[in-house]
Amino acid sequence: SPCGPIIHGLEDVLIKSTSISDIDGEKGILWYRGYRIEDLARHSTYEEVAYLILYGKLPNKKELEDFTNRLKTYRDLNSATIEIIKNLSKAHPMFAIESAVAAEGAFDEDNLKLAEALKVGRYKAEEKELAYRVAEKLIAKMPTIVAYHYRFSRGLDIIRPRRDLSHAANFLYMMFGKDPDPLATKGIELYLILHADHEVPASTFTAHVVASTLSDMYSAVAAAVAALKGPLHGGANEMAVRGYLEIGDPSKAKEVVEAATKPGGPKLMGVGHRVYKAYDPRAKIFKEFSREYVTKFGDPKKIFAVASAIEQEILNHPYFQQRRLFPNVDFWSGIAFYYMGIPYEYFTPIFAVSRVVGWVAHILEYWENNRIFRPRACYVGPHDLQYIPIEQR
Ligand code: CMC
Repeated sequence: SPCGPIIHGLEDVLIKSTSISDIDGEKGILWYRGYRIEDLARHSTYEEVAYLILYGKLPNKKELEDFTNRLKTYRDLNSATIEIIKNLSKAHPMFAIESAVAAEGAFDEDNLKLAEALKVGRYKAEEKELAYRVAEKLIAKMPTIVAYHYRFSRGLDIIRPRRDLSHAANFLYMMFGKDPDPLATKGIELYLILHADHEVPASTFTAHVVASTLSDMYSAVAAAVAALKGPLHGGANEMAVRGYLEIGDPSKAKEVVEAATKPGGPKLMGVGHRVYKAYDPRAKIFKEFSREYVTKFGDPKKIFAVASAIEQEILNHPYFQQRRLFPNVDFWSGIAFYYMGIPYEYFTPIFAVSRVVGWVAHILEYWENNRIFRPRACYVGPHDLQYIPIEQR
C-alpha cells in the first residue's frame, strides 16, 4: 500500500501512560491501581473500588464515609433531564442515557465552570477540585438515569433515590421499589466492581478523544456511552442472553458453535477479546456468581445450562483454540440479571453505571497532560479532478 503500515482498529497502539488499571492478556489478569480484581471482588464494595480508581488509593474509613455520603447527595437529576428520559421511554435505554448525560451536563454549574476554566488553559488546584466533584456527580447520577428510564418504559412512577442505601442497593430499589434481595444486591455489587475500569476499550478511548478537545466532562461521558452501546463492546451482554433464550436448549450448543466457525457466520456474543488471549478473569468470577444464583433460584429458561454447554463446545473446538478465543465477561454477566427480573435492554446500561468511574478517572488522568487527539488517514483517492458543472454531468 502507498500508505505504509495502517494499524487497523489501533490494535496495541499506546495512547498514553496510565496508573489506573492494567491487563495481562496472556495470563488473564486484571489489576485496578495495582490490586487484583479477585481480591477486590472478594473484599470490597463498589464505593470503595470507585474511590480507589478515582483517587488512586484505598480509602480509610473516614474517606470512604465522606465519599459515600457525597455520592448520595449527588444522586438526583434536574427536572428537565427527567423529562428527556420520559420522552425517550419507548427507545432503547442506551439512547436515553446518552441524551440524559449530555443534558445533565448542561445544567451542572460545576461542569460549565470547569469547561470555561479549561478553555482558558486553567487547570490548577481549584479547577481540579471542581473536576473531581463533577466526576463524583457523574458516578452518582448514572444509576438514577438508568432506573428512571426503566420506570418510565414500564409506565411506572419514578422512585427517588434513598440515602440510607448503598450504591448497588439503591439502584435496585429505584428500579423495583422494594428492599432488594441480598443475593441480587451482591450480584449487582460484584458486577459493578468487575466492570469499573478496563484500560482503554473503545468507550474509554472515545471519552479521551472528546475530553482532549476540552469539550466538557459530561459530553465526554455521553460519547463513551454511545460507544459502549455497540454489540462489539458493551452491547454483547444483552446479545449473549438473547442468544441463550433463542437457542433454548443445551443440546443445540454444538450446532450453534459450529455455525460461528463458518466464514461469514454469526459471531458468538460474549466470546473473544482484543486483549485477553486467556480466560477473562472477570468472566471466571461472574460465572461462579451466576452458578450460585441459579442454584438458589433455579434456571427455568435454561440459560445457564445453555451458556455452560456453549462454553464446553468452545473450549474444545480447534477454531476457538487456535484463535485463543475464550468467553469474556459478557458471556456470563447477563444470566443472573435476567433472573433478577432485569429486562435484557438494561444489561448494557448497568455496564455504564459501573464503567462511568473508569471513564471519569481516565479523563482526569489525561487532563494532567492533555493534548488533542488528531491522527491521520492515508488518502487513496484521486487529486485535482476537473470540476464539471451539474448541467454537464
Ligand atoms: N465468534 C466467532 N469468531 C470470532 C469471535 C466470536 N465471538 N471473536 C473473534 N472471532 C474470530 C474472528 O472472526 C477472527 O477470525 P479470522 O482470524 O479467521 O478472521 C479472529 O477470531 C480474530 O478476531 P478479530 O475480529 O480480529 O478480533 P478483534 O480484536 O478485532 O475483536 C471482539 C474483538 C471482542 C470485538 C470480537 O472478539 C467479537 O466481536 N466478539 C463478540 C462480541 C463481544 O463479546 N464483545 C465483548 C467484548 S468484552 C467486553 C467489552 O468490551 O464490552
